[in-house]
Amino acid sequence: MTVSQEEFRRSLGAFATGVGVVTCLADGQDHAMTANAIASVSLEPPLILVGVNRAARFWEALRGQQYWALSVLAADAQPHAAWLATSGRPLQGQLDDVPHHRSTRGIALLDQALVTLECRTYDTVPAGDHMIVIGEVESAHPGTDADALLYWRSGYRRLAR
Ligand SMILES: Cc1cc2nc3c(=O)[nH]c(=O)nc-3n(C[C@H](O)[C@H](O)[C@H](O)COP(=O)(O)O)c2cc1C
Repeated sequence: MTVSQEEFRRSLGAFATGVGVVTCLADGQDHAMTANAIASVSLEPPLILVGVNRAARFWEALRGQQYWALSVLAADAQPHAAWLATSGRPLQGQLDDVPHHRSTRGIALLDQALVTLECRTYDTVPAGDHMIVIGEVESAHPGTDADALLYWRSGYRRLAR
């Protein structure tokens, strides 16, 4: 018995998640991708995971990097989440209209984030058509005290704080 892709998508769509943007810097260029396959993994050491499609250009950029970041989005960042999930968008200048600042390592962190995490790749595990990227959290920075952006049943939702 195998579940169809459609059934799989619909089933997992029942699992409400937050929405993040993962960022890294490769060859001096910003790379960013909307992601919700995010989980907390370990307290000691502090580890998180992000599932990254091997076909995503973000994986191509991230695979050669040690450092990356996760911005957990506020509800008002929904247009930025939609933009950074648009396949085929120009890579150059993709953060030009997305307010951001930089980590000490120079990686972009979105301004409209509830929290930002700076990570160092701890391990990568192939899993089907995705890579599970496990990051050790080097630092965490509280962001805006705003409503949260959620993703549920193929749509964005706002969770009032
Ligand atoms: C709400 C939402 C969550 C997503 N989560 C992930 C994810 O966790 N991992 C992933 O690889 N792609 C995810 N995607 C799809 C990527 O954002 C999308 O394929 C993006 O265009 C990839 O960009 P890139 O090819 O420039 O890296 C998600 C899309 C949306 C709308």
